[in-house]
Amino acid sequence: MRNLWQPFYLVEEVMQTITDLLNVREAAEQRRSIRSYEPESIPRADLAEILRVAGLAPSAFNLQPWRFVVVETPEVRAKLSEAAYNQKQVRSAPAVLVLYTDMKDTLENVDEVLHPGMDAAAGAAARKTILNSFASKGEAEREAWGAEQGNIALGYLLLAAEAHGYQTSPMLGFDAEAVKRLLGLPDHVRIPVLVAIGKGTEEGFPHHRHPADRIVRTA
Ligand SMILES: Cc1cc2nc3c(=O)[nH]c(=O)nc-3n(C[C@H](O)[C@H](O)[C@H](O)COP(=O)(O)O)c2cc1C
Repeated sequence: MRNLWQPFYLVEEVMQTITDLLNVREAAEQRRSIRSYEPESIPRADLAEILRVAGLAPSAFNLQPWRFVVVETPEVRAKLSEAAYNQKQVRSAPAVLVLYTDMKDTLENVDEVLHPGMDAAAGAAARKTILNSFASKGEAEREAWGAEQGNIALGYLLLAAEAHGYQTSPMLGFDAEAVKRLLGLPDHVRIPVLVAIGKGTEEGFPHHRHPADRIVRTA
């Protein structure tokens, strides 16, 4: 009997999980930059799911040049805080996500991002198109291009965290070279943003945003 009913329990559990999540509009309305957090660490499964959803972001040529370092160790967070001009959210949050982009790694392993549905000829053509389009770019231009793509993943990450019940603080205020040294990242990578994440203990500021008619026009 139990086996017969088990699938229904499972469905109920999955439905519960789904209904606990905020939808995109709710997450966008509710999200604010939060700079004070509860100290409890984030369950690994939640972090993994938030990062998986961030990785669903689209990117040009589907190159997905973003990479993440999850910084949880208090000693490393303390050093990261120094590199981030002592911004308090870096020490307060139980985790800080260092979002970096690495076009060298991406292009050296371009086959990883070619769609498996492509046959050999289509795959070879796509590989050639991608590599050709970067051939004339120097390292700095190529890596800057990758960093732009990284910001798409940032948007997904912030909404995914909020939807899963976590607050965030994106940061550009840090010394990128110091962060690279601390985490042993290669010189050529870019770090579009650091993101403190955890259960927030403050409300944050109410949204103050342009109305649509200030930023949208038709043509
Ligand atoms: C890419 C990026 C970098 C940011 N850098 C910092 C930062 O270094 N320190 C900080 O306190 N807030 C930082 N912010 C937060 C912004 O000030 C904040 O998003 C903006 O004022 C809107 O407020 P809200 O996030 O609460 O809606 C950053 C936000 C973004 C998106």
